[in-house]
Amino acid sequence: MGKWTLDDIAWDRFERGKVDDALLRIVKAASLVERNGADYAQYLCRVFHDDATFQTIAKRWGDEEVQHGKALARWAALADPSYDFAAASQRFTAGFRVDVNAAASVRGSRAGEMIARCIVETGTSSYYTALAEASREPVLREICQRIAADEFRHYKLFYGTLKRYLASEKLGLWGRLRIAAGRIAETDDDELAYAYYAANENAAPYDRRRCSTAYARRAYAVYRPHHVERGVGMVFKAVGLTPNGRISRWATRAAWWMVRARLARLSGQAA
Ligand SMILES: [Fe+2]
Ligand SMILES: [Fe+2]
Repeated sequence: MGKWTLDDIAWDRFERGKVDDALLRIVKAASLVERNGADYAQYLCRVFHDDATFQTIAKRWGDEEVQHGKALARWAALADPSYDFAAASQRFTAGFRVDVNAAASVRGSRAGEMIARCIVETGTSSYYTALAEASREPVLREICQRIAADEFRHYKLFYGTLKRYLASEKLGLWGRLRIAAGRIAETDDDELAYAYYAANENAAPYDRRRCSTAYARRAYAVYRPHHVERGVGMVFKAVGLTPNGRISRWATRAAWWMVRARLARLSGQAA
């Protein structure tokens, strides 16, 4: 397991009066998505079937992601005692299932798979850092800080494996950019929207557009420019570009503009 367990969290510092409803809703969704780490770890072990070193990394990584889900779910139950995590998990797995049956990477190569994993860890490390800074509730802040540190370490693990595979697999800049862009675009897929639905609603039928908007407008709102700047730097590094150069600074400004524009559009849709 990771460097911490649920017993290390100072649960007795919980302050009900500082719980933010918007954060509670997206934390519930995150708790469900993190549990898919176990399925993704199985998939990675199939893709890297003859790499025992990486399989050990992948299994431990999967356990840590599952622990993230457990910590967030326990906090959500503290903040909202009516929250039925088991029922929400059942709804989520009944409606959304990770495809772990592929024998080879869906990214076309093992290096490509590691680029996609670096993109995901970039997203999660930025997101939990932003959530920690947005939360006035001290226990949620502590949990998110611990998770963000794990996600950043995961990025480094996958980046290290990426470097190892790039020595033998050919994957040029455009190939890497294509995979990174593809994985970033998948952020809008069903997984987060459906997790938001399963965690927060149980009466109305699933409406992807409505749930995606409800999730995204709360999630986008926690970001600040320094989170985007760090994320862009990590993406640049994963695809082999200079993380602190002129293009990176330009991309950071463009990405921050897109975050603000998307948030304005989402808020307009919800109004
Ligand atoms: Fe995680
Ligand atoms: Fe992670």
